[in-house]
Amino acid sequence: MCATMDTLRIIIVTLALMAAVSTVAGHNITDILSEYPEYSVFNSYLSQTKLADEINSRQTITVLVFNNSVLAKFLSNDTLSVVKIVLSIHVLLDYFDMQKLKTIGGGTVITTTLYQTTGNAIGSTGFVNITDLNGGKVGFGSAAPGSKLDSLFIKSVKQIPYNISVVEIDLPIIPLGILTGGAPSGVNISSLLETAGCKTFAKLITDTGVLKIYETVSTKGLTVFAPSDAAFKAGGLPNLNKLTNAELVSMLLFHACSNYIPRGSLKTEKNPIHTLATTTAGKFELTVQTNGDSVTLVSGVDSSRVESTALDSVPLSIFKIQNVLLPTELFTKSPPSVPAPAPETSTPSAPTPASAPRTIASSPAPVNATSPVRSPPSPSTPPTAPTPPTPSISSPIDAPAPAENPAADTGKSNAGDGIKVPGLFVALVTASISGIISSIAA
Ligand SMILES: *[C@@H]1O[C@H](CO)[C@@H](O)[C@H](O)[C@H]1NC(C)=O
Ligand SMILES: *[C@@H]1O[C@H](CO)[C@@H](O)[C@H](O)[C@H]1NC(C)=O
Ligand SMILES: *[C@@H]1O[C@H](CO)[C@@H](O)[C@H](O)[C@H]1NC(C)=O
Ligand SMILES: *[C@@H]1O[C@H](CO)[C@@H](O)[C@H](O)[C@H]1NC(C)=O
Ligand SMILES: *[C@@H]1O[C@H](CO)[C@@H](O)[C@H](O)[C@H]1NC(C)=O
Ligand SMILES: *[C@@H]1O[C@H](CO)[C@@H](O)[C@H](O)[C@H]1NC(C)=O
Ligand SMILES: *[C@@H]1O[C@H](CO)[C@@H](O)[C@H](O)[C@H]1NC(C)=O
Repeated sequence: MCATMDTLRIIIVTLALMAAVSTVAGHNITDILSEYPEYSVFNSYLSQTKLADEINSRQTITVLVFNNSVLAKFLSNDTLSVVKIVLSIHVLLDYFDMQKLKTIGGGTVITTTLYQTTGNAIGSTGFVNITDLNGGKVGFGSAAPGSKLDSLFIKSVKQIPYNISVVEIDLPIIPLGILTGGAPSGVNISSLLETAGCKTFAKLITDTGVLKIYETVSTKGLTVFAPSDAAFKAGGLPNLNKLTNAELVSMLLFHACSNYIPRGSLKTEKNPIHTLATTTAGKFELTVQTNGDSVTLVSGVDSSRVESTALDSVPLSIFKIQNVLLPTELFTKSPPSVPAPAPETSTPSAPTPASAPRTIASSPAPVNATSPVRSPPSPSTPPTAPTPPTPSISSPIDAPAPAENPAADTGKSNAGDGIKVPGLFVALVTASISGIISSIAA
């Protein structure tokens, strides 16, 4: 048992190291701005919206900053998702230092912003117009028709040629319609998934009640990795009907985590991602591999490329992915030594594992299969309820992974110590433990 746990730990560490080999530019915007207290709110918003990860992962970039009092005046009443849109318009995908700004060819240039890369920019709101105004002034404005060049260059804050330049302007660039357009509040996750081409997944999470857990968690931060409809039709996918309800719930919880992780942050994620199915023992984790612009999630049994972003609206992030993610706790790879069954073989009664490269590992869990489905908290529960469900779900998720905490695999789970554990969690722990036990036995 201990040896197996050690093996699992080695696998997890190995995957974590593999994931760490993603390319990042050598700058850290959080660090750069931390030297300037006048931009501290701007800096804090870059971290909260995860734009900092996006900036750090790109080379040749210019960040237009404004000071705390300007930010308070223009953005204090806006939601984080609106702030994210506005700030992403201030991240230019080109290098502009003072010299380059003062010698703009033709006196005017249109440049692409980070907002344009989200695919949500309407018209030319994702572009910024930089124009050399009379008297040596440089003006910035949205490239959207009808916009004014209201924002003026103040000073160059920091330059690392030609990687990153930080430039102060006196007013934020806010394209017409951005603030009034607003961000979707109260997103209907299932209808969004259906529109994105993930109907099967939407039906599964609705039928099992997992959607209600997603919805509860989503108020504080949620990322969903939703397999496409094609993923459920792919050859080699184990028969999911053979899973017990509890196992199916675990598998669906494995496709989400209780943090807001937009694409840029996912690309630079070095640590295993704790999913909603992750227990105090650290099981049911995903790792990320990045190759250029392609992002792949690794489950341990299989992997899945991230196909597209279905939604990025702080604190909710939904990705469409290419394959169903199979957790090692529920599935195993078929042993490579098993020969493919030949029709002329003398043992026609032998099982035919080779026809399904991945097989369900566990026997039915000793859990009342329907109990986890009925347990999830009702979405109508007021957030001020004395025992809000979210902390109970997220507290085991915040626990350290076994890779960093050797004490965690001694078999002593501290899930019950001082934490009010809901029935759902107990059921899931039981389900995952039985999954681990049967995969060891297999
Ligand atoms: C710019 O980034 C590249 C790649 O990270 C790095 O090799 C180079 O040293 C950086 N330039 C400066 C001036 O830091
Ligand atoms: C960037 O700098 C901040 C503050 O110095 C630090 O907390 C953070 O870990 C750094 N991020 C990376 C990716 O190194
Ligand atoms: C924010 O809301 C307060 C109170 O409603 C209002 O006085 C203030 O003008 C608003 N600020 C902005 C930038 O809209
Ligand atoms: C930038 O805006 C100014 C003022 O609206 C306009 O005259 C100029 O043509 C724009 N530049 C480009 C490249 O479109
Ligand atoms: C913030 O920036 C504005 C615009 O440049 C300026 O008028 C104001 O004095 C600055 N405030 C502080 C505290 O630096
Ligand atoms: C969300 O959309 C689905 C259809 O995709 C619908 O059945 C459901 O009632 C909607 N939920 C809410 C709360 O509007
Ligand atoms: C599981 O729960 C259901 C609903 O409460 C109940 O009807 C059923 O008898 C239970 N099954 C077992 C095996 O305990």
